[in-house]
Amino acid sequence: MTEQFIIAPSILSSDFLHLGDVLQTCKTAGADWIHIDVMDGQFVPNLTMGAFIVEACKRGTDLPLDVHLMVENPENLLQAFAKAGAANLTVHVETCPHLHSTLQEIKSLGCKAGVTLNPGTPAESIFPVLNMVDLVLIMSVNPGFSGQSFLPESVAKVAKIREKLDALGSSAWLEVDGGISSETLPKMIAAGANAFVAATAIFKHSHGIATGIAALRDL
Ligand code: DX5
Ligand code: ZN
Repeated sequence: MTEQFIIAPSILSSDFLHLGDVLQTCKTAGADWIHIDVMDGQFVPNLTMGAFIVEACKRGTDLPLDVHLMVENPENLLQAFAKAGAANLTVHVETCPHLHSTLQEIKSLGCKAGVTLNPGTPAESIFPVLNMVDLVLIMSVNPGFSGQSFLPESVAKVAKIREKLDALGSSAWLEVDGGISSETLPKMIAAGANAFVAATAIFKHSHGIATGIAALRDL
């Protein structure tokens, strides 16, 4: 059996005037998930999308919606995002004093539960919940904006989490987010990642979205 890899375009860098077309182009080009970056201007220094965008995307595509919550007190928003159509709900360990129960809550809402951590947060901080998550997201930039430079130290963090997931016999997705490109994606595959978020490499590709997705897929 060949291993499955997920390409998840982050619509943060897409043209919101044409969101429906963007979603269709992503699907036709072979995207697997649509990554939606929710930022509150508090946990991260940027303000982006609420549940209503997830609801609009749900009407625009049947691809699973991979929702990355970069917000303080995410537990207050889980229900709204689940209702809007999120398939995956990923929370930051830095924002969750009751991480275990927050992940349980995500599952009880019928979504896949994801956990993520900032570049400055040690891998060990999520070890206690690795056996219960469906997805681990490793940030390879500091969250807040697309178009930032890849942080090379995140490769070792992916390898560390891969080792731990394998030891647990977990089939959770190991997703990476930030500065993913034709240059950095192979390093993340080698370290054990199997899901790849990209905004700039797809939506700012000089030959368009489909070529951007194909270039990553071909790797
Ligand atoms: C950053 C977001 C990312 C971002 C990735 O906070 O979580 O999903 O859109 O953008 P690129 O691929 O340009 O680094
Ligand atoms: Zn993201």
